[in-house]
Amino acid sequence: MGSKDMDLIDEDGKRLDGREYDELRPISIEAGVLKRADGSAFINWGKNKIMAAVYGPREMHPRHAQDPSKAVVQARYNMAAFSVPDRKRPGPDRRSVEIGKILSEALDEIIFVEQYPRSTIDVFIEVLEASAGTRCAGLTVASVALSDAGIPMSDMIASCAAGKIDGQVVLDLGKNEDNYGQADVPIGLVPRTDELTLLQMDGDLTEEEYEQAMELAMDACHDIYKKQKDALRERYSTDLEEQEFEEIPQEGIEEG
Ligand code: CDP
Repeated sequence: MGSKDMDLIDEDGKRLDGREYDELRPISIEAGVLKRADGSAFINWGKNKIMAAVYGPREMHPRHAQDPSKAVVQARYNMAAFSVPDRKRPGPDRRSVEIGKILSEALDEIIFVEQYPRSTIDVFIEVLEASAGTRCAGLTVASVALSDAGIPMSDMIASCAAGKIDGQVVLDLGKNEDNYGQADVPIGLVPRTDELTLLQMDGDLTEEEYEQAMELAMDACHDIYKKQKDALRERYSTDLEEQEFEEIPQEGIEEG
C-alpha cells in the first residue's frame, strides 16, 4: 500500500475506471485450453491474463518428498518477464514463493489428497499480464483447471479481494488502487460452505471496515463461482456438441 497522492474516487463515487465501490472488474474464464496438460484454464480478469495448468496426480519425485498418507499439492506461481511494466526478472523470488505456498495450502483444503498417497499434483499458474489481484485470479483459475483435470475435490475455491481506497471500502482493487490505496484483503472462499482457505491483509482496516470488506469479497466470490461453473459447463457441452456433429468420413463414396 503506497502513500496517497492521487484521487481514487470522484465526487460521484466512481472509481478511476468508472466502477462503483462494489463492482468487480470484468472476468471471463475458459476451461480446457491446453491439449497436453491434464487440466487447464485461462482467466481474463480486468487487465490480468493468467493461465493455469494441472499435471497429476502422479508419483512424487524426489521420493523423500513423498507423503505416505496423501498427495502433495504443489502450486507454482510464475510471472512472465513481460507481464509487468518493468521487466520482471525471470525465476522465483520471495513474492512468487510466498504466493505459491499460500495457494498450495488453499488448494490442499479442497482436494481429496488422501486418495493419492505418495503422489504430487502440480498446478502451474502462469501470469502473462499482471494488473493487481493476480493471486486471487490465479487461485480462481487454478480451481477450474483442477476440475478440468478431474481431480476429486469437495468444491472449487473462488477468490477475490476487497480493500480501502480514499477512506472507503471497495471491491477488487485495480493497479492504481493497489498502489495508492490503504488496504487490500484477498480471500479464498469455498462457496458451498463459506469456509475461507485464504485470508491475507496488506495495510490497515478498522474492525467495521474489515467486516464490510469481508462481506463485499464473499458476495463477489459467489458471483465468481458462477463464472467458474459456467466455464466448465461450456467446456463439456461444447465437447459433446462437437462429438455429435463430427463428420463421418465418406471414404469410397463417390458423389453423382
Ligand atoms: O497481484 P497481487 O495483488 O495478488 O499481489 P501484489 O504483491 O499485491 O501485487 C500487486 C500488483 O503489483 C501485481 O498484480 C502486479 O500488477 C504488480 N507487480 C509488479 O508490477 N511487479 C512485480 N514484480 C510484482 C507485482
